[in-house]
Parts: sequence; C-alpha cells; structure tokens
Amino acid sequence: MGVGGCLVVPWRCLVVLCLRLVFLVPAGVPVRSGDATFPKAMDNVTVRQGESATLRCSVDNRVTRVAWLNRSSILYAGNDKWCLDPRVVLLSNTKTEYSIQIQDVDVYDEGPYTCSVQTDNHPKTSRVHLIVQVSPKIVEISSDISINEGGNISLTCIATGRPDPTITWRHISPKAVGFVSEDEYLEITGITREQSGEYECSASNDVAAPVVRRVKVTVNYPPYISDAKSTGVPVGQKGILQCEASAVPAAEFQWYKDDKRLVEGQKGVKVESKAFFSRLTFFNVSEQDYGNYTCVASNKLGNTNVSIILYEAEPEIHPCSLEIQPACVMRL
Ligand SMILES: *[C@@H]1O[C@H](CO)[C@@H](O)[C@H](O)[C@H]1NC(C)=O
Ligand SMILES: *[C@@H]1O[C@H](CO)[C@@H](O)[C@H](O)[C@H]1NC(C)=O
Ligand SMILES: *[C@@H]1O[C@H](CO)[C@@H](O)[C@H](O)[C@H]1NC(C)=O
Ligand SMILES: *[C@@H]1O[C@H](CO)[C@@H](O)[C@H](O)[C@H]1NC(C)=O
Ligand SMILES: *[C@@H]1O[C@H](CO)[C@@H](O)[C@H](O)[C@H]1NC(C)=O
Ligand SMILES: *[C@@H]1O[C@H](CO)[C@@H](O)[C@H](O)[C@H]1NC(C)=O
Repeated sequence: MGVGGCLVVPWRCLVVLCLRLVFLVPAGVPVRSGDATFPKAMDNVTVRQGESATLRCSVDNRVTRVAWLNRSSILYAGNDKWCLDPRVVLLSNTKTEYSIQIQDVDVYDEGPYTCSVQTDNHPKTSRVHLIVQVSPKIVEISSDISINEGGNISLTCIATGRPDPTITWRHISPKAVGFVSEDEYLEITGITREQSGEYECSASNDVAAPVVRRVKVTVNYPPYISDAKSTGVPVGQKGILQCEASAVPAAEFQWYKDDKRLVEGQKGVKVESKAFFSRLTFFNVSEQDYGNYTCVASNKLGNTNVSIILYEAEPEIHPCSLEIQPACVMRL
C-alpha cells in the first residue's frame, strides 16, 4: 500500500488495519458511479494557501465503513487517524456526514482526495479535488536602469502565484502612457527621451490584490538649448542674459564673451547655474559689457552652444519709475 509518510503504526496493527481496509484501496476498485447518491462528496474545494479546507462526505445509515484518502494514503478511517500530519483533523463522523479538515493548507496538498465508504458490502468512492490558491508575488524585477538615448533595454518581472498571475508593464510617469507590455518582459529598442520615467509591473490573479513594483528608466541625452534671447539694456541698469537647456544628466554651463571665459565672482557680473538654465546678471551695465556672449551647455554625451547679444537700449521712459508724480499717486 503506497501510504507514504502516513503510516507509522506497529506493523501488526498495520496488517490488521490493512485487511480491514482492503475495500478502501482505490487501486483496482473502479469508482462506481452507478449509485449516484453515495458516497456523496462535495464539489471541488478551493482554498487559499494558509487557510483550512473542509472535506465533507454525505453518508447514510446503510454505510458501515468510511475513510478519507489523500491519493492512495489513508488519512482517516472511521475515527482512527492514519496519518501523522497534525494539520489533518476529524470534524464529524455521524450517521449523515463524515468530514475532515486540513489546516494551514499548502500547495503540495493540492490534488484528489477520496471519500471511500462501504454500503451493503459494496465499496464505493467519491473524489474531490482540493485546489490551492496562492496570492501573486513578484520574485524577480529589473533594477533601475540608465541608458543613452537610442539604446535598447529589456525589463523583466517574474511573479509566482496560483493560478499563474497575469503580468503587465505600464509606463506611469512623468505622464501615464498606459500598458506597454502584457507579459513578463518589456523590450524597448531605440529608446527615446520621452520613454524615460517610471515603469510599473503588476502581477494579478484574482486571489488577492495585485502586487506592483516600479523600475526607473533614465534616458541620457546630450544638451539641447531650448531658449536664449539677446537682450537690450541701457547703461547703468541691471541686465540679465539667460540660457535654458535640457539634458540628462543635467547640463553644466559655461559662458564666454568673444573668446574669453567668464568666471564666477567676476566684478559686477554674477553667473548662476541651475539644472535647466544658467543666468548672467550684470548689476550695472556699462559700455564694455555690451557684446556677443556664448552659452555652452555640456554633459558626458556632448555639448552645444548658442550666442546671444547684450546690446544697448534706450532707457525706458516710465512715468512712475523715478519720482512719484501726483498723477501716479492718484492712479494708485
Ligand atoms: C497529500 O499528499 C501529498 C503527496 O503525497 C502530500 O505532499 C501532502 O502533504 C498530503 N496532504 C495531506 C493533507 O495529507
Ligand atoms: C475538479 O477539479 C478537477 C481537477 O482540477 C477537474 O478535472 C474537475 O473537472 C473539477 N470538477 C468540478 C466539478 O469542478
Ligand atoms: C538594438 O536592437 C536593434 C534591433 O534588435 C539592433 O539592430 C541594435 O544593434 C541594438 N542596439 C544596441 C546598441 O544594442
Ligand atoms: C553704475 O556705474 C556707474 C559708472 O561706474 C556709476 O556712476 C553709477 O553710480 C553706478 N550705478 C549704480 C546703481 O551702482
Ligand atoms: C557671436 O559669436 C559667435 C561665436 O564666436 C559667432 O559665431 C557669431 O556670429 C557672433 N554673432 C554676432 C552677431 O556677431
Ligand atoms: C559652438 O559650437 C560650434 C559648432 O558646434 C563649435 O564649432 C564651437 O567650437 C562651439 N563654441 C564653443 C565656445 O564651444
């Protein structure tokens, strides 16, 4: 008898029990479906990993012997426990019902269980499948990645669960694009800067809420100057030249006047650079400040430049700028 780990009773007992239970052995005993009423096991049982499964078998008073089997291993025969597994307990053994419970169900418990009875000296069996569900879990996910524009990437998201989870990839930021892949792999060839951002892998299988993980994709590209304008400023006033550039990694800026590099701390001029722009501030523009300025933006992928002019402009005549005149006060 292939009873696996379930039988550890003294061998003499075993033989006696075996003889008593020969009728129960499914092998060689065809399932008789002629008698539709007995034994009547429930439909298939579906439980989540960790929960308890109750296996019920309806019987009546013609039944003389009862047992529950896991494949060919006897779990319970009447009130006698045949297996050592503490998770298996007898729930009821009455004239109408013979039920056992399997606690803390795990995936290896999945499979066919048989209720076997003897009625009027005829062995009969009924089979129920225990189906074990497992919440989805992401077991492997790509790390954040940094790639140069035009390169190829392949993101992987492997998830387990029962039933097998459905895996999807979505591009969620900077703006939500939606589904980009309906399986574990997301391949992007010739990636563009618009395809950078956060990608989210989701694994779902109806057993529990979907699980999600995120991967950040950084697409590097050389600087591109998006805005820089020539500016007219009168002598003695404050003047600003600004140069805006987008780049990943962020651009570093340098300013030249003609061929001469402007450095921070130069008298009367402030150089101020942030991630996306650089600004030259002249606190008190003089004749010598006018001229041709070149803004150079560079990162590890390359550099670009633009030339803009700081030119002399006529002072703006503003009625309220210098002295407060009665007309202005009245308008205020
Ligand atoms: C059922 O049988 C399988 C295969 O032998 C075993 O792994 C599992 O632990 C058994 N489950 C119970 C509840 O007996
Ligand atoms: C019970 O489960 C088994 C195995 O998964 C399947 O073949 C059978 O059709 C199911 N029966 C019912 C009534 O759902
Ligand atoms: C990217 O993939 C394309 C198409 O598969 C291939 O032709 C190209 O050589 C790949 N580029 C790189 C940098 O691997
Ligand atoms: C700007 O510079 C001129 C010439 O050096 C000077 O006369 C003037 O007072 C300065 N203006 C201010 C606001 O500092
Ligand atoms: C400014 O300087 C750049 C580089 O030296 C040159 O290409 C450009 O023609 C100059 N612009 C003017 C208006 O002189
Ligand atoms: C500006 O760009 C031109 C063309 O790419 C290049 O020849 C020149 O050297 C650059 N100027 C500076 C100051 O980098």
